Amino acid sequence: TKIGIVGVPFEEGQGKVGVANGPEAMRKSNLIENIKSIHQEIDVHDYGDVCYTSLENVEVPNMRKYSDVAACNLQVSRTVEKILNDGRICLTLGGDHSIGIGTVDGHIKAKNEKVCILWVDAHADLNTNKTSVSGNIHGMPLAILVKELADYWPYLPGMDWQKPVLPIRNVAYIGLRSVDSYERLIIEQFGITAYGMEDVENYGIHNIVNMALDRIDPHRMLSIHLSFDIDSLDALEAPSTGTAVRGGLTLREGIHLVEQIHKTGRLGAMDLVEVNPSIGSPKDVQKTVEAAVHLLMAACGYTRRGLIPRGPDGS
Ligand code: ARG
Ligand code: MN
Ligand code: MN
Ligand code: MN
Repeated sequence: TKIGIVGVPFEEGQGKVGVANGPEAMRKSNLIENIKSIHQEIDVHDYGDVCYTSLENVEVPNMRKYSDVAACNLQVSRTVEKILNDGRICLTLGGDHSIGIGTVDGHIKAKNEKVCILWVDAHADLNTNKTSVSGNIHGMPLAILVKELADYWPYLPGMDWQKPVLPIRNVAYIGLRSVDSYERLIIEQFGITAYGMEDVENYGIHNIVNMALDRIDPHRMLSIHLSFDIDSLDALEAPSTGTAVRGGLTLREGIHLVEQIHKTGRLGAMDLVEVNPSIGSPKDVQKTVEAAVHLLMAACGYTRRGLIPRGPDGS
């Protein structure tokens, strides 16, 4: 397995200070070493952090820090595309969820649009600048990416590199429990595959993942983009995040989901976003960062049943 890791220390997609330190916190918690120790022939390359220079004087109504989001995401998209073209699975460490614009865009470019999206989140992140109450762009990335909502946006300056080509039928949600009313309207009108917490209760996480893949990738041939917002987990398991909602996934359910996606052999890219080390007590931060590291390790093939030692040739 070849893995590429990139950090995006970006927090302008929402209002709280600290989420830009997510990548540093995950790296300090020995993320890379832990991934290397999964098995000997795993090949991990750390591409470092994305940097950008802000665009001057571009504003869009009700999109806070628009110019930063547009400029940063261009670099994110290019980096993700490069990592995938290097033949690696791309793990992106956020940062807030507005960076999903760039990670999904880079993935779509690298795989010639043969991509499906699993958006694991308490929130739908499906607002446009007309429906958003907060003006925070981390609540908008999916609405920017999907084809069917293109006509609902004004011209977005500095975002010409991004074309909304993602078909809505290739997107599924897992973990929803805080959906704004216009987001719900769009989910219903376009028939977006959306499994909320009551569905996880009813069917169990294992069936939910299979049901989601049946809908978004029925022929099992697309590259899977797993965009994992840490706030999909219950606030008890991941307290250090900007928009925590109680009643969420357990870490066990989260790990199971990621293991199941790894086992498909089609995981192309994963985002791990919204870890904010400035929220909560040191214990809260440790718990949240450890949860994130476990999820990322599962994406790289770590299994909780343990692995038999293998020789350097993999035998
Ligand atoms: N729906 C709310 C908004 O539009 C919250 C979005 C939270 N998003 C996130 N990536 N945590 O502002
Ligand atoms: Mn800021
Ligand atoms: Mn999100
Ligand atoms: Mn969220």
